[in-house]
Amino acid sequence: MAKTLLLKVDAQNPDPETISQAAEIIKRGGVVAFPTETVYGLGANALDGPAVQKIFAAKGRPSDNPLIVHIAEFSQLEMLVTEVPLTARRAMEVFWPGPLTIIMPCRDDIPRTVTGGLKTVGVRMPKHPVALALIKAAKLPIAAPSANSSGKPSPTEARHVMYDLAGKIDAVIDGGPAQVGVESTVLDMTGDTPVILRPGGVTREQLEAILGHVDLDLPSVDKIIHQAPKAPGMKYRHYSPEAKLILVKPVPGKAVADIIQALADRYQSKGMKVALMVSVETASILPLEDVLCGILGHRGHLEEIAGNLFKVLREVDAQKPDVIIAEGFAEAGIGMAIMNRLTKAASQVIDQPFSSYNLNS
Ligand code: TXA
Ligand code: MG
Repeated sequence: MAKTLLLKVDAQNPDPETISQAAEIIKRGGVVAFPTETVYGLGANALDGPAVQKIFAAKGRPSDNPLIVHIAEFSQLEMLVTEVPLTARRAMEVFWPGPLTIIMPCRDDIPRTVTGGLKTVGVRMPKHPVALALIKAAKLPIAAPSANSSGKPSPTEARHVMYDLAGKIDAVIDGGPAQVGVESTVLDMTGDTPVILRPGGVTREQLEAILGHVDLDLPSVDKIIHQAPKAPGMKYRHYSPEAKLILVKPVPGKAVADIIQALADRYQSKGMKVALMVSVETASILPLEDVLCGILGHRGHLEEIAGNLFKVLREVDAQKPDVIIAEGFAEAGIGMAIMNRLTKAASQVIDQPFSSYNLNS
């Protein structure tokens, strides 16, 4: 594949001609990146095994990590799943279109490449007008993981997709920045109690208000950092910057800014190039000479932090620091998704008072 076509559209009112051009590529078995409200996806016809295979090849994605299938109408569910549990139906009514992926039992004729050989499939109806228009124009369910090289931060802008995948995919539809900034919540609804497998754009609190108790099945920090095998998608290193990333969790009674400052001083005194990823509030009290600083947003506005997270991570990493020190946030609401992604990006998580922490490692 020589050249990747870049198709610009208006996010709210995408030009139908351009959308049908992209839909034709999908129908002919090609791969097209497109904006969703969470992050950019890399799409192919979910019913065409060889087309889906091209997604894995372009991303360098391990073949046992299943893809999410995107639909634009409820009627498309029949092509994918054998049953829609009653509580899943309720969740769809409330949260679709939107950043919620629901795992359900899948039909036998869904290509194995999509499900990674599992008997379940993750389905979501995205909210972005461009994503919906593309799926409707193709008249097909579209399998799409995030449109990054495997292991890299998810793309929230078309240029991030081009940076990772230009020359490896047929086209990118540029519909401007993705709004939510972190991926969808993955909710397993095949059992009696819904289980969050990945926190995302729909919060646990929002789900519980509608569905009652929702379980969490997330690997512990320790398991993430030490790469222990887990469920599909959890066992691979994720969102990894080139630099070593150190995540400083909020520590009760200790100003996070003090810990970040002390760490930055320590690494700088070793002659290392240090970058920070911090809130507006933390940046405003730190002396920032000789330190690259990516501002994530206001600490009290976690939606803003989520929206900037991957973009700032890419920007900071592009400056080639030796170490990135990232501020952690409260794990309530969308903070759970933010901290999950930061933890996966981290080589080290600091969650104890600085004085008792051994920095030599
Ligand atoms: O917001 C999003 O979800 C974006 C946009 C493009 O829709 N997509 C996305 O896809 O983040 P991806 O492939 O990067 O992440 C999908 C996650 C993986 O962790 C995968 O293991 C999990 O969903 N997943 C998919 N199908 C599954 C299944 N049947 N059972 C368990 N986990 C599944
Ligand atoms: Mg991904």
